[in-house]
Amino acid sequence: MRVFSGIQPSGDLHIGNYLGAVKQWVNAQSSDALYCVVDLHALTLQIDPATLRTQTDDLVAMLIAAGLDPATCTLFVQSHVPYHAQLSWLLECVATYGELTRMTQFKEKAERQDGYRVGLLTYPVLMAADILLYQTEQVPVGDDQRQHLELARDVAERFNNRYGAVFTVPVGVQPPAAARVMDLQEPTRKMSKSVASPLGTIYVLDSADDIARKIKKAVTDTDGEVRFDWEHKPGLANLLELYSGFSGESPSAIAARYHRYGDLKGDLVDLVVTELTPIAERYRELRSDDVALRQLANEGSEKAEAVARQTYRRAAEAMGLQ
Ligand code: AMP
Ligand code: TRP
Repeated sequence: MRVFSGIQPSGDLHIGNYLGAVKQWVNAQSSDALYCVVDLHALTLQIDPATLRTQTDDLVAMLIAAGLDPATCTLFVQSHVPYHAQLSWLLECVATYGELTRMTQFKEKAERQDGYRVGLLTYPVLMAADILLYQTEQVPVGDDQRQHLELARDVAERFNNRYGAVFTVPVGVQPPAAARVMDLQEPTRKMSKSVASPLGTIYVLDSADDIARKIKKAVTDTDGEVRFDWEHKPGLANLLELYSGFSGESPSAIAARYHRYGDLKGDLVDLVVTELTPIAERYRELRSDDVALRQLANEGSEKAEAVARQTYRRAAEAMGLQ
């Protein structure tokens, strides 16, 4: 089963990224899985060049620390493989302006700034190119990427109908729990790298004390009953989803075992700290050797490029390029 997914080096990894995406990637890793640090995507918003370079290394180290084994799967950096940008251009000539302006994430991000970049609009086409270059069957992502994935499918189908069967049409896969982790202080808004919410976001590299403080202060409600109910008790439902993401039990089964919010929060702190502490330790080790880390990423890029080249050539030829 060919698996592909990507993540932006646009800020520190939080437990939404970890549970919604990275943990699934680790579970799905095989010699047929490719995971990509999408640095080209990070250029769609303002980012300092030195920061981008550092955060790309940080994220490669973090993904390995979280359990991706570069000897098993292919872990690489998007801009190292030129075919992503090249296929993206071909697909921009297949996707329509209407499709792109309808994307919710584009509308939200464009609203927040004047003079947004064209890349913010064409972002999902580059994402489609990422996926389609590798004849991907499954794309493990969080819930917020559903619409982008639909676009990748539509573009693949349209291309195949117009120019011949070149691309596999991918499907998105979401984790059973924690596909959309919400901010701990504002449980109606998703936990996000780009919105600063110091108490509402738990980072994978947070200390045990910070994790405990954030979970203890997480917003719940005043009725006091432990029940899994997103509509009426979003703060508690979010904590139960998190618990489920870390323990594997279903949120309702967890709710049935607790009578007090404080007990639930205390056990959740232990679960999170137990899983994240060794990741942070491995991360610090890996990050102390830049040369070895870059070497691993370069090896991944070579493996990825060999696959991408074949698909790109077939697509270019099908469209009439010489
Ligand atoms: P990004 O940080 O936008 O590059 O996202 C990387 C991956 O994390 C994608 O698969 C997202 O769907 C996933 N993700 C981001 N935020 C959340 C969240 N709050 N809950 C669950 N998954 C998320
Ligand atoms: N757009 C995705 C996000 O922000 C990141 C991404 C880029 C991606 N290319 C991808 C995810 C390809 C899955 C497959 O989360």
